[in-house]
Amino acid sequence: MIILGIDTSCDDTSASVLADGRTVLSNIINSQIKLHHVYGGVVPELASREHIRNIAPVVDEALSKAGIGMDQLDGIAVTIGPGLIGSLLVGLYYAKGLAIVRKIPLVGVNHLEGHVLSTLLEDDPPEFPFVALTVSGGHTSLYHVKGLGQYAPMGQTLDDAAGEAYDKVAKILGLGYPGGAVVEALALTGDKDKIRFPRAQISPDSLAFSFSGLKTAVSMYITKWKQSEKQSEVRKEDIAASFQEAVIDVLAQKFLKAAENANVNTLVLAGGVACNKALRQRLTQEADARGMKLYYPRPAYCTDNGAMIALTGHYRILRGERLDHADDVRSRYPIEEIMGSR
Ligand code: KG4
Ligand code: ZN
Repeated sequence: MIILGIDTSCDDTSASVLADGRTVLSNIINSQIKLHHVYGGVVPELASREHIRNIAPVVDEALSKAGIGMDQLDGIAVTIGPGLIGSLLVGLYYAKGLAIVRKIPLVGVNHLEGHVLSTLLEDDPPEFPFVALTVSGGHTSLYHVKGLGQYAPMGQTLDDAAGEAYDKVAKILGLGYPGGAVVEALALTGDKDKIRFPRAQISPDSLAFSFSGLKTAVSMYITKWKQSEKQSEVRKEDIAASFQEAVIDVLAQKFLKAAENANVNTLVLAGGVACNKALRQRLTQEADARGMKLYYPRPAYCTDNGAMIALTGHYRILRGERLDHADDVRSRYPIEEIMGSR
């Protein structure tokens, strides 16, 4: 079965062709980073207009790179939420048009389910059950994943997402948008123990996250630091490394606790922040020390991509699911509201 997966949930236009739910024949991503960079964040209306420009060429490229003609597609999977409404609509209506003309099945996919399943695209995929931590610009959530379509939420952020905190710190440090990779690069040569930023705990047993206090603490520190005469004693690199250490500490502690609570030995890390090498290393060490195993996808499947949507759509199409003509996009779409989740 050959599935075309389309994701236009935020600022990337992506399309992928997936064969038999396993082989990624192509995965094309057109990033809008340059467009939004000057604004320090994604501007929704500009994003939708850019998706309109990019969607047809990106799908064409995905098909030609895969060596697949439009007539060879067996189905189409498209993200219907959560995300920016104007952006999602472009993907949905393009996919609808194609599916109607080609007379092939169309299925709507939850973007979060795509991230949770993204590691299944790798050669050594994790086995169910596992605990997944999805960390991106919009989400920081823990799920007990019992099987395909079975996702029990265990904890999520009460305010900002981890990626959002990275983006905010990068903005204050004048490093542009998005901030994750730049802050990580800066942190490489910094002293992570130089400043002790707060680690929000909520309560000892809670699996909920909170990053807004950390963001504010870093912001206040930088304001004072800029005015200080002793600026040379602490470098930008030290601030980046100390901030990153605070984020990693909290993510690691709650991720491992969630695995213990769920009584599983398999951990799955996904979403844009999962590209972070320091986070991967720390989680791998901590998992190894407990006889657990950590899985994460390659960077191209961590950030938004069509391949994870094609994969999710593949098994949903096999289950007989189809998008109804009345189905619409959703800006909020908790994973527990998808069909087959419990
Ligand atoms: O999954 P994604 O591409 O889009 C969303 O669904 O949000 O994630 C993007 C987020 C951004 O906040 C970006 O700063 C963060 O992932 N990110 C990183 C790294 N690479 C991307 N955060 C930390 N370290 C990185 N290397
Ligand atoms: Zn995402």
